[in-house]
Formats: sequence, structure tokens, C-alpha cells
Amino acid sequence: MSNGLRVSILGGGSAYTPGLIEGFIRLKDTVPLERLVLMDIDSRKLSIVGAMVKAMLEAEMPGTRVDLTQDRMEAIQDIDFILCQIRVGGLAARHLDESIATELGLVGQETTGPGGFSMALRTIPVMVEIARDIETHNPGAWLINYTNPTGLVAEAIHKACPVKVISICDEPMILQEALAGFVGVDPGSLFMDYFGLNHLGWARRVLLRGNDILPVLRQTMQESSDIDLDKVFGSTVMSDPKNQLELQNTLRIFLETGLLPSPYLQYYYFSDEMIRYRVSTGKTRAQEVIELEKAILADFEKVTAGRKKLEIKRGGKWHADMMIGMLSAIAQDSRSIYIVNVPNRGSMPELPYDKIVEVPAVVDASGAHPLAVGNMPASVRGLVQAVAAYEELTVKAALEGSQADALDALTCHPLVPSREVAKRLLDSYLRTHAEYLPQFAGRH
Ligand code: G6P
Ligand code: MN
Repeated sequence: MSNGLRVSILGGGSAYTPGLIEGFIRLKDTVPLERLVLMDIDSRKLSIVGAMVKAMLEAEMPGTRVDLTQDRMEAIQDIDFILCQIRVGGLAARHLDESIATELGLVGQETTGPGGFSMALRTIPVMVEIARDIETHNPGAWLINYTNPTGLVAEAIHKACPVKVISICDEPMILQEALAGFVGVDPGSLFMDYFGLNHLGWARRVLLRGNDILPVLRQTMQESSDIDLDKVFGSTVMSDPKNQLELQNTLRIFLETGLLPSPYLQYYYFSDEMIRYRVSTGKTRAQEVIELEKAILADFEKVTAGRKKLEIKRGGKWHADMMIGMLSAIAQDSRSIYIVNVPNRGSMPELPYDKIVEVPAVVDASGAHPLAVGNMPASVRGLVQAVAAYEELTVKAALEGSQADALDALTCHPLVPSREVAKRLLDSYLRTHAEYLPQFAGRH
């Protein structure tokens, strides 16, 4: 590894990229950047985001070389850390994933439920191809993956290829930093006793100097009639109605159960309400994000032209803290604790040994080493085990192009009510996304 780090971002034209760059700028003394390569197949987004990123780095880290490319190999060779945030089929494919489920009266969501199944079938072959390219052309590089559905993608990569990879999601960090802000302490002083799968995890204790703060927090919140979420999460986050509802529901689950859940648990605990909410908006979340992205890219162009001040509306500090924290823990061999997606290896004894789980892990130059988190509370064990079985079958189906496994996977999913509905979903997804599902072509 050279003095400064050589970092690339696959899917670098995303609206999330400038928030990450702000993170690199904040941490420039600990994680100096020598070179940044932004790779994207969408040339328009790449040039808008790229121009702004260049201006940001020129102002704050003038020694950093920035390259924009549409060639994946350029973002793989001679790179230390390959960050990956791709979206196969773009938001148009996400819209179809979500609307097909919603039309059948089910939860229509990007990662949770049938939508996540469809996204996994489409995304896994591309991610495995990327992992194999890294393995062949730059085996010393680290792949830091946060492409959704993160847990399933992680499981497929670990099965298919021995690349150096850590898969992450910012939700645990969002909980940790929001909680730290609420209590008024440094996020690093909290230990999250967290367990589960990606977008299906809970903190069952949050330790501050050896004491669990969750019971007192729960009592305080139960007693105060009005919790100012704007103050906890910031007004930019709260300006998106989806975030407002999600965070209210997260607190609702915490107050009712005493477990602090990933916000995605709302789709299981309140599935009927979530279905009604989605129908009431008359749009899929993908359609909302398409509008958001349009406005954000227009803003970026104004910022580059010097007509506006940059305001990060997607991603932001918590997201960057997670991604860059990870990179820094590996680069500096710091043995820091992060909640990441790793092979279980006994950390959660009620799940298979090789299952990808989302748990606290010690991160150093050799990767992520999961801590033993133990057995789950009975109240959530069944749900986690059912989703784990669904994930295992989905990954197998995506890698092997097996319709039988795909149908079994959907049938196992707690948000799919019957095998008949599973068949309709599968037919619809395979037909609609045929161009992205070569592994199923001509197979039964
Ligand atoms: C959270 C999740 C991510 C997800 C993001 C945006 O950060 O952890 O996995 O991509 O929210 O979700 P949205 O529905 O707004 O695209
Ligand atoms: Mn996530």
C-alpha cells in the first residue's frame, strides 16, 4: 500500500458519493487519499457528480488525483480499496421490483420482502463477476461492498470467490450515532450488543461505561409525550416523509418491545400499515427516489457552478463514518469494532455456521472477526431463522439459476402468504427482468 490510499467507487455517479467525499475530507489526516477513481456506466451522472467531486477535492485535498471512468477494470487495477454501490438495472428496475409486489397486495420494498428477492437475483451475478475480476486482476485489494441487498450479496460473494471483502450497511451506525447524540456522548463510547441479519437486526443492549442505557432511555421516552425527532436525526433527514415514518416506527418497536430494531423491521411488525401507506402515496419508493435524485443532481450542477452551497441529502455523515471508518480500520490495522456482515462462524449459534450475519466484529488489516453474540430472544428467533432460510435459498437460486430453489425461497419468506402467490411473483419477476437474469435463461 502506498502512503496515501488509492480508492475507487463502483457506481461513483450516485447521489451518495459527495457525502462520502465529505467524509474523506473530514478524515484527511487519518485516511489520506492519493487517488480516487469514480466508475459508473451512466455517463451523465458520472460527469455531474465527478465535476463536483473534483472541485471538492481540489479545494480541500489538492494533491489527490481524480479519474472518472466507465471502464470497470480501471477502477480495479492499482487500487487499494474498491468501494461498491452499484444498482443493477437502475431505479427503473427497482420500481418494477416494488410495484409487482405492491400490486399483489404485499410489501413492495427494495430489500425487504419480494422486492429484495428480485433485486438479489439481478445483482448477485454482477457482484460475483466483479469479485472474480478483483480476484484475478488485483487480489491484494479490499472490496468494501454496500450494494443491496447487502446480506445476500455478501453471502453469494463468500460462496463464489475468495476475494478480500467486507459488506456493510449504515443502519447500525445510524442507530449508534443517533443514540449517542440523544444521550449526549461520543458514539465511540457506546457498545452496541447487536445481532441479526442485514436489515433484520436489533440492539438488545447498548453499553455505556459498562451499563445498559436502553432501559432508562425507554422509560424516559415512555414518559415524555413528544420526542423531537428533528433534533435527534436532523431536519434534512426528517424532510423525507419516508424517513419520518420509518424513525417513528423504529421508536414504536423499541418502546413496545425494549429491543432497538433496524428501521427495516417496520415492514415485519407493521406490514399491513406499511402496505396501506405505500398504496396511499400512489408511488413506489423507487419513484420517490427518482424525483429526489433529479433534484439532487440539479443542485450538484449549481454547486459546481458556484451558485449554491452543497447540502448532502442522501447518505451524509453517518453513512460516510461507517464506510470510511471501515476502510481506515483495515488500512491502519486498528482492531476497531464495527457492526458488519460477516460469515457467522458460531457468533450466532442458532444460525448455520457459514450464514452471513450482521454482528459486531473486530476489524483489522486481515478483515472482520465476529464477536460471539450468542442466542437470540425467543420473540425474534423464528423470524430471523425463517429469513435466513429464505436468504440461503435465494443465493443458491441466483448463483445456479434454479427456479425450484427460487420458488422455495419465496415460499419461505414471512411476507409471502402462500406458494401460489410465490409462483405468481416468480413468474412476474423472471419475465419482467429477463434481460438481467441470464442465469435463468432456458432453465427450469
Ligand atoms: C438506508 C439503508 C440502505 C438504503 C438507504 C436508502 O441507508 O441502509 O440500504 O439504500 O437507506 O434507502 P431509500 O429507500 O431511500 O433508497
Ligand atoms: Mn442498508
